[in-house]
Amino acid sequence: MSGVNDIRAGFLDYFVRNGHEAVASSPLVPRNDPTLMFTNAGMVQFKNVFTGLEKRPYSRAVTAQKCVRAGGKHNDLDNVGYTARHHTFFEMLGNFSFGDYFKERAIELAWNLVTREFGLPKDKLTATVYIDDDVAFDLWKKIAGLPESRIIRIAGSDNFWAMGDTGPCGPCSEIFYDHGDKIPGGPPGSPDADGDRFIEIWNLVFMQYEALPDGSRVDLPKASVDTGMGLERIAAVLQGTHDNYNIDLFRAIIQAIAELTKVSPDGPQKASHRVIADHLRASSFLIADGVLPSNEGRGYVLRRIMRRAMRHAELLGARDPLMWKLVPVLVREMGQAYPELRRAEALISETLKLEETRFRKTLERGLAILEDEAKALKQGDALKGDTAFTLYDTYGFPLDLTQDALRPRGISVDVAGFNAAMDKQREKARESWKGSGDAAAETVFFGLREKLGATEFLGYETESAEGVVTALLRDGKETAELKKGETGAVIVNQTPFYGESGGQVGDTGIMMADGVRFRVTDTQKKAGDLFVHLGTVEEGTLKAGLALQLDVDHARRGAIRANHSATHLLHEALRQILGDHVAQKGSLVAPDRLRFDFSHPKPMTAEEIEKVEDMANDFVTQNSEVTTRLMAIDDARASGARALFGEKYGDEVRVVAMGHTPSGAGGNTLGWSVELCGGTHVKRTGDIGLISVVSDSGVAAGVRRLEALTGRAARKAANATVQAAQQVAADLLRVTVADMPARITQLLDDRKKLERELAEARKKLAMGGGGRAGTDDSIRTVGDIKLLARAVSGIDIKDLKGLADEGKKQLGSGVVALVATSDDGKGSIVVGVTPDLVSRFSAVDLVRKASEVLGGKGGGGKPDMAQAGGPDGSKADAALKAIEAALRA
Ligand code: ALA
Repeated sequence: MSGVNDIRAGFLDYFVRNGHEAVASSPLVPRNDPTLMFTNAGMVQFKNVFTGLEKRPYSRAVTAQKCVRAGGKHNDLDNVGYTARHHTFFEMLGNFSFGDYFKERAIELAWNLVTREFGLPKDKLTATVYIDDDVAFDLWKKIAGLPESRIIRIAGSDNFWAMGDTGPCGPCSEIFYDHGDKIPGGPPGSPDADGDRFIEIWNLVFMQYEALPDGSRVDLPKASVDTGMGLERIAAVLQGTHDNYNIDLFRAIIQAIAELTKVSPDGPQKASHRVIADHLRASSFLIADGVLPSNEGRGYVLRRIMRRAMRHAELLGARDPLMWKLVPVLVREMGQAYPELRRAEALISETLKLEETRFRKTLERGLAILEDEAKALKQGDALKGDTAFTLYDTYGFPLDLTQDALRPRGISVDVAGFNAAMDKQREKARESWKGSGDAAAETVFFGLREKLGATEFLGYETESAEGVVTALLRDGKETAELKKGETGAVIVNQTPFYGESGGQVGDTGIMMADGVRFRVTDTQKKAGDLFVHLGTVEEGTLKAGLALQLDVDHARRGAIRANHSATHLLHEALRQILGDHVAQKGSLVAPDRLRFDFSHPKPMTAEEIEKVEDMANDFVTQNSEVTTRLMAIDDARASGARALFGEKYGDEVRVVAMGHTPSGAGGNTLGWSVELCGGTHVKRTGDIGLISVVSDSGVAAGVRRLEALTGRAARKAANATVQAAQQVAADLLRVTVADMPARITQLLDDRKKLERELAEARKKLAMGGGGRAGTDDSIRTVGDIKLLARAVSGIDIKDLKGLADEGKKQLGSGVVALVATSDDGKGSIVVGVTPDLVSRFSAVDLVRKASEVLGGKGGGGKPDMAQAGGPDGSKADAALKAIEAALRA
């Protein structure tokens, strides 16, 4: 008997041997289709290859594709547990031809695989073809040698496959396996075809058309092939069972549930085992692909799946969270084929545990209420919509969980009543935000948020995806379209663009469709979780409903990631080097730099900065994985994760951890740096490259600001510094860089000495030079008074008084007047009067006269020495003349 893993490997290997490229499963959240909630078939990732929009280096491919059919158009959730073949999560094996082979080779490859490789007996197989597909009919006869009675023509959608209302489609041909007459059911096309006897195992789609939004169909550029074989079904056939839940993979999980709950897997509670096993797979794979439980969109479908399983765990008598304990079994069974499961194991376990812990707080009381209400009801009745809403709103019971709980008793739920209660509550919420005083400009976003729901953010996982335009704004008002050249805002149903928050700037990039291009210059979050893309239409016209390819500027986002992760490392290093008082006061994470404000009373020393930088960089070189978890806020705090004081957090928070603490160093078990953070980060710390602190400054009392660069920017800045140093050393100083400091110190000392000497020389020169005393032509006699009057330059203003004193000494008796002109053209004047003359002339009066001439006012000092100034230094000579005139008067 072949196990599931061998069957999957065998399938892939067979097609590789037959010239197909083995392509990895695409994520469950489709990147290339905004209308699809989850990837629900193998061909989803190849949609644009079929239509010719996208080229790949191969024309044949084979995949094992993860699929989820829950929520959205294909919703199997309600049936899971009660049938042999419904799943929310399953694997689809498929081979593809993109304009390469067509019907003949497709049938040949399929037939050989099932009969030769898998060894299924020919007489157990039946084929169907589309009603008028004579070609396929004849090929089955020719290749498989099937009698005409076992090639059944079928009309309608059963044998015409379409991905959705639009997209590639075509007639198909299916292979059925007959489980034998012990099982009820008839061949395809017969009235009892729905029984379990004849099971479709493989669907070969002959892709020929593309369905367009207007309902018309056009030919694909090249006829192609898309096939899908449910791995769980073929495994059941090959393992001799008609029940998918009996295959080895499911038995392993169900066995683990039975061991934990001590409830028989095949007794009356069989359905609960199956629900848990199926939902464990869907939940785990969705979480691994970046979906986290929430109250909207994909996150809500995940929550519904999780809670449905959790209620069944309760039915099996589990008193503590159960699902997370099953994760190791799942990883053991499927981790080899899907390494993402292994990588996300911790995240999956913690998310499941958290959800189940929270849900259990209300589950029992909710079930008691449900029980109470149901007692009064009999088969065929419906539970009141109000009660279903209370269960939903207060006890966290999604509607389908309540329906699931009542179904075995034949009781339904008044869904219209439930919806009415939901609308009433929305109305109340609307009233309350209307009264909350938000600025009028912001009100439009609250309205849109309510109408459109939250934007689904895909940017933790991907930087490009498709999204559908749900609203457009021009000048802050909703508008039907944005034309070429117009600036405005675009809202889409899902986006990889990060909206500015938590210090991290918003993403920029391009949104486009055929003939339409919108350049996003900023992304903002409004009304909580509505992502608003601001920018300009560069080409075409944007309209609501348009599907756009959304591409974040990848290089810029890469730099932002590095800066954000570096901020976390610096934060922790600061705390370790400076002390526990270091708390984050603000931050800016931009593509070109990062800024981190923190409490610390004094400037950091050069040594402290170096230590912080060294420590942070040690964790860069450690190159450890950066992990993200979703945790209950209380658990996150208890784990020691750093949070912003005073910041409002929800009940559940993202916790980002990086770096291994050296053993024995204590610290947080999650990592060296652990912070509550909604930002985007590098995958491994090594991606940061390098952290370089470029400045430390003060921003407010007790708050310091560190600025730093990372990666390429840090290297470029460091290179520029080194180059400048080398140039100065080699070209100007003619020493090595190492000798530069000594050489510059010496030069500065020399310069100081020279300046001192120069000042002395100037003073001497100003006073007429040592040897020329007495012969100085600037000394004249005015009446009976000796006047030393001189205009000087190159003299420091503060030296003027000293010079005037010297002049007085030189004269013995007389008046000294010195005007100095400074470099900026202003004049300063000092007047000194020897003591014998102060009764006749006041230095203050004299200086004021001169100051007037220089365009100044006032002046001050004492009768023997006074000082003044004026803006017009060029009038120095006239000012001196004014003093002379005053002495004459
Ligand atoms: N795309 C086809 C299916 O999902 C093969 O059945």
